[in-house]
Amino acid sequence: MEEARRRTLQLVAPLTDEELNRVYSPILSPLAWDLGHIANFEELWLVQTIGDREPLHGELGRFYDAIENPRATRNELPILRGDELRSYLEEVRERSLEVLEGVDLTSGEDPLLAGGFVYELLIAHEHQHTETMLQLIQMIDGYEPVEEVEPPAPDPAAGTGPEMVLVEGGTVELGAGPEGFAYDNERPRHTVELRPFLIDRAPVTNRAYAEFVAEAGADAPMYWEPDGDGWWVRTAMGRREPLDPDEPVIHVSWHEADAFARWAGKRLPTEQEWEAAAAGADADRANLDQLAFGPSRVGAYADAPSHCGAIHMLGDVWEWTSSDFLAYPGFRAFPYPEYSEVFFGDTYKVLRGGAWAARRNVVRTTFRNWDLPQRRQIFAGLRCARDAE
Ligand SMILES: [Fe+2]
Repeated sequence: MEEARRRTLQLVAPLTDEELNRVYSPILSPLAWDLGHIANFEELWLVQTIGDREPLHGELGRFYDAIENPRATRNELPILRGDELRSYLEEVRERSLEVLEGVDLTSGEDPLLAGGFVYELLIAHEHQHTETMLQLIQMIDGYEPVEEVEPPAPDPAAGTGPEMVLVEGGTVELGAGPEGFAYDNERPRHTVELRPFLIDRAPVTNRAYAEFVAEAGADAPMYWEPDGDGWWVRTAMGRREPLDPDEPVIHVSWHEADAFARWAGKRLPTEQEWEAAAAGADADRANLDQLAFGPSRVGAYADAPSHCGAIHMLGDVWEWTSSDFLAYPGFRAFPYPEYSEVFFGDTYKVLRGGAWAARRNVVRTTFRNWDLPQRRQIFAGLRCARDAE
């Protein structure tokens, strides 16, 4: 919990209160809302629910309810700002550590406490909000990270080409098992029958996507601007850096990803296919953890392929799948329906694999992310699939 908080505060350290309160986009909350919401979620679960204590600010919690308050309205709410906000983060943390002194994580009687579930939930929640905050930070001109780590250089022998690898299919086990932390929507583990398929060995690169833009007249991804010389610059955080042709394309919508796949004579993988192809991928050898401030070049982690030989399955960019976000057979909402259940249906598309902007311990091959098909501010790219003959 301390590590998560240190990194959250590090992320906002370069920003003024004015920047924390500013609305940069109607689809993203001001950063001050996210910070208050992180503390309020901690207060709700660790202090009020587990510790049975009263909240510090009475009814304040309802302004931090993500379902009650759509992002476009969050700046009008009487949320905490400035020093009040900083004290709230600190005071809640003090109280949750006091409560932690007295809890029994071993009895297994309370499913929230068994194995420390609610503490894992809290950390994952903070980690996921810092990714959302990074979406907004991409829009802040002149943002300078406190810490930035260059990903490894690609192995020149690894190649960045569009070749595909075969996944045999058959009976495949998917989803998270009963042990350890996972979200309700990843459970239960179950089997599916998959026909053999081919999947791109690597995510679609900027080079390939630029061809699609030029030949099919598709829109350029978010944060691309023409460099006046036939190529592109990347403009996130107000920078103007030449676009690296060998990095995975990022900030494309599901509609754009789907159109690219069809233009390439392929299709998006289903999320089942994606997870089968990702088996064996290692989150410790992947561009994750929010410090690269962009994807690594394809081949940077060529020595860490999944069992089928695919690379960069985890990290760099979230990968759009063709699948709607639906419940697995036997799904049970835990600990609350608003985490996943209210989003099930044909409105959201599933993304897999995690991006550079995701914290490492959030990402695993069973992790399911979901978003609206028109969204491009998220750290999303793609890889294509095709039926095997
Ligand atoms: Fe949240």
